[in-house]
Amino acid sequence: MSNAELDPSHIMQVGMGFWPSKTVLSAVELQLFTHLGAEAMSGEEIGERLGLHSRAIYDFLDTLVALRFLERDGDGPDSRYRNTAESAAFLDKGSPTYIGGILEMCNARLYGFWGDLTEALQTGKPQNEIKHTGKPMFDELYSDPARLQQFMEAMQGISLGNFHAVADKFDFSKYKTVCDVGGATGQLSQILATHHPHLRCMSYDLPVVAPIAEKSIAAAGLTDRVAAAGGDFFADPLPRADVITMGMILHDWNLDRKMHLIRSAYDALPEGGAFIVIENLIDDARRENAFGLMMSLNMLIEFGDAFDFTGSDFAEWCGEAGFRDVEILPLTGPASAGIAYK
Ligand SMILES: C[S@@+](CC[C@H](N)C(=O)[O-])C[C@H]1O[C@@H](n2cnc3c(N)ncnc32)[C@H](O)[C@@H]1O
Repeated sequence: MSNAELDPSHIMQVGMGFWPSKTVLSAVELQLFTHLGAEAMSGEEIGERLGLHSRAIYDFLDTLVALRFLERDGDGPDSRYRNTAESAAFLDKGSPTYIGGILEMCNARLYGFWGDLTEALQTGKPQNEIKHTGKPMFDELYSDPARLQQFMEAMQGISLGNFHAVADKFDFSKYKTVCDVGGATGQLSQILATHHPHLRCMSYDLPVVAPIAEKSIAAAGLTDRVAAAGGDFFADPLPRADVITMGMILHDWNLDRKMHLIRSAYDALPEGGAFIVIENLIDDARRENAFGLMMSLNMLIEFGDAFDFTGSDFAEWCGEAGFRDVEILPLTGPASAGIAYK
């Protein structure tokens, strides 16, 4: 086959992927989808609302039409722009299923930090806020209350679909209590308590985070069955529960710390209890789950020695900790639940 028959479009699409990415991230930053809500607006109206320069308005909006983030009724200066069904559901802050928090954080933090990926690849060192301070990641991240809040909203965005999938797909009928370790805003505990009225849940996170969860649980009217607790999962034993969940916790740490958390979960469970991790588990051959693999590169950028892992890695570590059985439950897109039974 001569080179003339090869198609370079995949190379171009991935290599230039920062173009569509940053267009969408700027649209989220400017709250374009929230301003539009359920309305249709002219380019001029949108330009005024968002403070856009006249040179930029139509290139920006029509790119978003071509990328299928906006609909446009008509062509030319009288046309009007609207949210697509997906933009309205997931990128309008007024929607209960808003997931833009993760994109807000990507825009404010990760987009810039990934500019130093090559340095991370050559040094194995983090490239985020701790690059020059050397402080532990969460200490640094949470030292600014606005950044703490932004991180909490990012987690809500990235995890919403997977938490609903766990609530739907895992059989909670045999269990009475759940402790969600590293529970952030208490989102998983609230979803589980809402889907399964017989459950009592606790969201466990650092003392600086627990009041955020408390507030969110109270706003949802779930204080009778969902509690928030503050603690340090490396310094203290985990609260005892029939089910221990960890959403994107193990991937934040190196192998020693992962094993510490897995052993702590084992100790906190009764015989028959279940340990559920929700992660972008990489396929065992490490060929397919590009998002999971890039999440692991993101852990290099954020922590240095932290990494994502395969379902068989998880099964091996849980076996070493004494768990008897492990199963993998696919969730949404690239994410899965790894479930270990004591
Ligand atoms: C990547 S976030 C995951 C949040 C949530 N579980 C989810 O999946 O959306 C990691 C969480 O671990 C918490 N965390 C970090 N270090 C901790 C520690 N030593 N003890 C308790 N929680 C900790 C963070 O505050 C943060 O909420």
